[in-house]
This record gives sequence, C-alpha cells and structure tokens, in this order.
Amino acid sequence: MSEKIELNARQIPKYWYNIQADLPTPLAPPLGPDGTPITPEMLAPVFPMNIIEQEVSTQRWIPIPEPILDILAKWRPSPLKRATSFEKALDCPVKIYYKDEGVSPAGSHKPNTAIPQAYYNKIFGIKRLTTETGAGQWGSSLAMACAMFDLECKVYMVRISFDQKPFRKLMMAVWGAECIASPSPFTQAGREILEQDPNCPGSLGIAISEAVEEAVQREDTRYSLGSVLNHVMMHQTIIGLEAKTQMEVLGEYPDVVIGCVGGGSNFAGIAFPYVLDQIHGKKVDIIPAEPRACPTMTRGPFAYDYGDTAGLTPLLPMHSLGHRFVPLPIHAGGLRYHGVAPLISRLILDQLLTPQSFYQTDCYRAAMLWARTEGFIPAPETSHAIAAVVAEARKAKEEGKEKTILFSWSGHGLMDLAGYDNFMQGKLSDVELSDEELSLGLKCLEGYPNPPR
Ligand SMILES: Cc1ncc(COP(=O)(O)O)c(C=O)c1O
Repeated sequence: MSEKIELNARQIPKYWYNIQADLPTPLAPPLGPDGTPITPEMLAPVFPMNIIEQEVSTQRWIPIPEPILDILAKWRPSPLKRATSFEKALDCPVKIYYKDEGVSPAGSHKPNTAIPQAYYNKIFGIKRLTTETGAGQWGSSLAMACAMFDLECKVYMVRISFDQKPFRKLMMAVWGAECIASPSPFTQAGREILEQDPNCPGSLGIAISEAVEEAVQREDTRYSLGSVLNHVMMHQTIIGLEAKTQMEVLGEYPDVVIGCVGGGSNFAGIAFPYVLDQIHGKKVDIIPAEPRACPTMTRGPFAYDYGDTAGLTPLLPMHSLGHRFVPLPIHAGGLRYHGVAPLISRLILDQLLTPQSFYQTDCYRAAMLWARTEGFIPAPETSHAIAAVVAEARKAKEEGKEKTILFSWSGHGLMDLAGYDNFMQGKLSDVELSDEELSLGLKCLEGYPNPPR
C-alpha cells in the first residue's frame, strides 16, 4: 500500500534549527582579502544586517516570522511519501521514504529560503535583489519571492542552463524578474571571462561574481545567495524538521539519510536535524551525494577559498575545487559549483557525513526508473540522491540487512527534459574530473591561509 503522510498547515515548524549551536568543532571565520576575519559591517554592502545577524548566530532555535509562515503554508508542510513501487523494482530489503520538495510553486526546496531572504530584505528597506542561478530553480524561486514582497529582482543565469532551459527564464519573467545569461557583457567580472573565452558555458562561481558586483554598486540593492551560507542552510531545516514529525507518525526512524549537494542547502535541510541526533549518539548514516564531474566533497581539499570566480566574496573555509574551476557541462546545473557550504565541510571533517559521488548516466538511469515506477520526473540534481538511494539499497541486499532510507526529493524535472532527451538518445557520457584538471583548478588556492582542521 502507498504511504503518504500529510501534516496540516498548523504543523509547520515555528523555528529553524541552527546547527551552529551544536557543532563539535566551531566554524573557522570567513576572512577578508588581507587574511584577517571579516566583521559583520564589512558584509553590509552585500547583505542586509538582519540576515548577517542570522549568518553569525549561534542561537539553536530561531523563530520564523509570521509573514514567512503565511507564505510557506501555501505549499508546506510538504508530503512525506513512501516509494513502494520503486522499492519493488529494486527488490532490495529497504523501505524508501522521500520528502517531496517538488510541490513548491517553483518546483523545488529553493523557495524555503527565497521567501525569508526577500522578507528580511524588504523589512530592512531594500528595493532590489540580484542573484545567480544554475539550474534555474533558485532564480525562479527568488523571482517569485520578490514578486510577493514587491521587490525588483535580477538573475544572472549560468549560460549553459540558460540555453538548455528557456522555460525557466520565462517563469522568472512571469514573476516579474529580469534574467540574463552569465557570463554577460554587463559586468567587469563577466567581461573578463568573455575576453578569455567567448564561448564559456558559465558556472555558478562566475554568476555569483556578476550578481555581487552589481549589488555592491547600488545603495537600494543587495545580493541574495541560494545556498552555501549558514543562514541558507538554516532556512532549509524546515524540511528535516517536518520529515522527523512525519516519520514519527509512521513510527519510523531512518538508518540512512540522503540528499544531493550543489552548495549544500537541500542536503542541510533534510540532514541537519538528524545530525543533531547523531551528535547526541544516535546511529544514522548521513550521505551527501554529488556528481563525479564536480567532486567537491570527495576530492576537493578543505581550504580557504572564494565563493565566486572573481574573488569578490570573503574567503570561506570549505572543500573546494578552486574558485577559477569551471565545472564540466553536465545537466545537473545546480550541482556545478566549485565549493560547498562551510557547515557541511566542517561536518565532513568531523566524520559525521560520508559523501559519495555518482556518474551522470547512473543518475539518469535511477531517475528513469523512478519516473517509470513512482511517476514523478525528478530534477537532474535530485537524480544524484536517487542514485545514492539505489547504491544504499544494493548494499543492504549484499549485507543481508533491512534498512529504512529517507531522502530529500529536492525538485521536479519538468523544466529539465532536454537532459532526459539527451540521455534517451544515448548522447550522455560519464564525465569525470581527471587528476590533471583537478590540480589545475587547485592552483588558484596557492598562497591562501590554511583553515584549522
Ligand atoms: C532540484 C535541485 N536540487 C538540488 C540543488 C542543489 O542545490 P543545493 O545544494 O543548494 O541544495 C538544486 C540547485 O539548483 C536544485 O535545483
């Protein structure tokens, strides 16, 4: 029998969980260009102070303001479902539960932070937001949030996704945002890249540089980031907090928790409330999944690096492939990022998470099986989590163990069908970063300070 647990609107969590209160090892501070820790005031041209306060807060539970809850209630709590047909097709001794974040208006988890970010900017008196987007999920989420709070919105979209996904751009236009391909000729950062390579496919790092550059030039404008930073991870914990309540209703506790990782926000959302249990001695395997083409967590060193290509952001302590690295043009545009959230990097170092990487074609194979059994078509990013679920299910069979797996179904793929088309036509290959490309990307890190491990 299909199992689906729906909570009512009153059961939306009223607090975000801030894992900074419970880290076994505190985060190293972000550094300015001179190598000294940056102060909140130094971030003020980029973010409003109410968001900067959240970024550095170590308060464990942070109340979610009522106007944010009112909007989240349009689609939250999101359903938790059991994938019984997929389980049957895998024929492994596992129960598979997934948190369906594809039900949001933009089609993914991204509005969970877009709404709070637009709200905090609005009450701070900001009129315009700039941002980057990879797959287009984040850009459309912020476009929607800005429409709801009457803010202007400008989105720099990674060129390869801009070309592959014209309908994402139209979604943003419907919500009133301007979306342009990055690298663009409109910023210094974009022009420099285009001079070196007029056909550059772009990357999240480049798009972030363009959006930050524009934001700091105007007093009425701030920048909004869809992942990586502490406050973004925290806004997403609403996913895992709801999931915990839903699993409790079923009398279940997961043996394994899985999420795909670009900058890390959807993974943090499902996983951090379970990391809290793990810190307090509970046994649970927590797996962040990434592409082999962009293996930040599995092959990138832990280093101080910039969050963007041009080096406009502070230096962040994180696993990184180097801020100048342009990831291979795989279809999961939202996972093409050179770095990963400092909070996730820290938890990896403290051995609370066990990252794994997957080939693009294995991810599409898993996604096709999902679509043909469960019906819903996952985003290419989400397919990395599904590939990890398949790997864990097979492992359970080999070990002869029964397991309960929980993962975040971070978004639907209805705007990403070009990737499926290429897969079905046999046009996709298993791209993997070579050792030479890896060391070339890491060259730009030479000379930066080493964060404490
Ligand atoms: C559907 C979906 N899942 C996951 C991601 C990865 O981003 P993050 O690691 O911030 O969750 C993206 C990014 O665009 C996405 O669109």
